[in-house]
Amino acid sequence: MFSTPISWILGILIPFIYTLCCVPLSPHEFGGVSSNVSRVLLLTAHPDDECMFFAPTLLGLNNQVSKTSYELYSLCLSSGDADGLGDIRKQELGASLDVLGVAEDRRWVLDSPFKDNITQFWETEQIVEYVQPYITENRINIVLTFDEHGISSHPNHISLIRGASALLDEQRHLRGFALKTTNVAAKYTGQASAIWNILHLRLCALLNNYYASESCRSKESLTFISGLEGYATALRAMMRHKSQLVWFRWLYVAFSRYMWVNEWVEIHG
Ligand SMILES: *[C@@H]1O[C@H](CO)[C@@H](O)[C@H](O)[C@H]1NC(C)=O
Ligand SMILES: *[C@@H]1O[C@H](CO)[C@@H](O)[C@H](O)[C@H]1NC(C)=O
Ligand SMILES: [Zn+2]
Repeated sequence: MFSTPISWILGILIPFIYTLCCVPLSPHEFGGVSSNVSRVLLLTAHPDDECMFFAPTLLGLNNQVSKTSYELYSLCLSSGDADGLGDIRKQELGASLDVLGVAEDRRWVLDSPFKDNITQFWETEQIVEYVQPYITENRINIVLTFDEHGISSHPNHISLIRGASALLDEQRHLRGFALKTTNVAAKYTGQASAIWNILHLRLCALLNNYYASESCRSKESLTFISGLEGYATALRAMMRHKSQLVWFRWLYVAFSRYMWVNEWVEIHG
């Protein structure tokens, strides 16, 4: 008798929940950049930044099915040597990028001159000097990095957007995007914030049929959301950083929003 309404409810709820938690979303043309091939350079400060903060984007671009194809490159400006583990951490970074899909000949780590140090900013001109050759030689047209809050306010992270802005001044064809730092409450709402963003984006997609709002359109072109599978992949990449897996990292991966959602803002040089 009662099974009918219950199966109706389940029949509606299950696809709904599945859509919310398990279906990844990524823009058709990231940042509205349209070309046949986009060469995207992820600029990070330390080994593990790539999987703790940027995984939804790397995975989203790698699985892109639109007419633009993306080639991913990664340049990490330090070996994360604050505790003397630089060599180990470089290997861990390689293993993590294997999981996230950045090829071996498209990834680099610098041993010097940038020091992993939580009290130091890095010189903007020096960043430009060291990053520029990678941009030119690989004909990079999009650079991705932290924003001015650097997610965790680490001065090394914050230095990168200053460097990226200066690079954009010199290389006119280059476009740059910064990963938006959300407030602390949102930072630790992981899956809940992914669900909220997915709802918002799906609503945008629906409304766009009738009324193409500018804010919806730009949100759509600048947000990557991982599904369950993407989250599991990011977790696998994180496990490659064995030297970093202390207890509070586990709290991080369990609750962090950046393991699920990346929102970008364009950098204007
Ligand atoms: C992109 O590809 C199309 C078809 O393959 C080609 O006609 C066009 O010239 C290409 N555009 C650029 C900018 O390479
Ligand atoms: C970080 O830099 C400060 C000075 O700016 C220095 O005193 C400290 O020893 C450095 N830490 C490491 C791990 O190099
Ligand atoms: Zn870092």
